[in-house]
Amino acid sequence: MSAPSVVRSVAALRSQVRAWRGAGLRVGFVPTMGALHDGHLALVREAMARCERAMASIFVNPTQFAPHEDLSRYPRDEAGDLAKLASVGTHLAFLPTLAEMYPEGASTWVEVEGLSKGLCAERRPHHFRGMATVVTMLLNQAQADVAVFGEKDYQQLLIVRRLVRDLAIPTEIVGGRTVREGDGLAMSSRNLLLTPEHRRLAPTLHRVLTDTASELADGRLAAPVLHLATESLQKAGFRDVDYVELRDAETLAPLAAAGAHPARVLGAAFLGPVRLIDNVPVMSGSSEAPR
Ligand code: PAJ
Repeated sequence: MSAPSVVRSVAALRSQVRAWRGAGLRVGFVPTMGALHDGHLALVREAMARCERAMASIFVNPTQFAPHEDLSRYPRDEAGDLAKLASVGTHLAFLPTLAEMYPEGASTWVEVEGLSKGLCAERRPHHFRGMATVVTMLLNQAQADVAVFGEKDYQQLLIVRRLVRDLAIPTEIVGGRTVREGDGLAMSSRNLLLTPEHRRLAPTLHRVLTDTASELADGRLAAPVLHLATESLQKAGFRDVDYVELRDAETLAPLAAAGAHPARVLGAAFLGPVRLIDNVPVMSGSSEAPR
């Protein structure tokens, strides 16, 4: 398949999107931070299934990393990423510079209250403000009909849905299923940073969340089950377990037990310096939700 056209300025991005939309073509968009894997590519395919044109952005957004986090270690591979985007027929790759994204003196933040508290925000208090700000910018820059975000980052997906609604951004947000390795580990750019020993342990996170979700499917009290899940992760070799929680799948409100509303078990834990996150739906019979 042909290589995507590479665009580095907002002006060039907008003029291409305007031309497509003017010709009656729908445009789908997948924002990423690069180091692409099959999870990202599945989102591009989802965009292509809904639209005649698909674009992806690659920008490692500094404002969603705290000073002590892994911004400098975050894997980068522009040539490899462009080849992967070409392999699924992506039409355009938007690779903005830092100055293009954050003009001198940039001082505006997007804060989504409520949903940006708890879960990943406990460990990463400013992360969602940086993410929401850059996603707002990217959606405004791209002017796409549809943007696809992964369920892998479940709290992020709900925050993006909320900000798009609250700020009346005219792009439809679509959630894409989590793509996993054969052993269940959710694909993540950060998996590249795991040692071989930690890579071997990493699927335990998904296994524990899945087991927890099926134990909670009958409506039993969550607290003791979540406590045991945390212990199993610690015993398996996870250094710090940030959380294993049962939440309402739409509002992220904490739940004492799964009930009539859709619920999700979400977890985050460290293997060495690498922080892994994952989540699964709670339902009787199976670990992934039917659509
Ligand atoms: P990044 O981690 O590169 O992820 C880009 C998109 O891919 C996100 O929507 C994420 O949820 C999705 N994704 C990651 N792993 C996935 C998997 N295994 N299966 C399916 N989808 C997966 O998330 C970000 O970048 C950034 O926060 C961003 C939204 C680009 C803003 O900077």
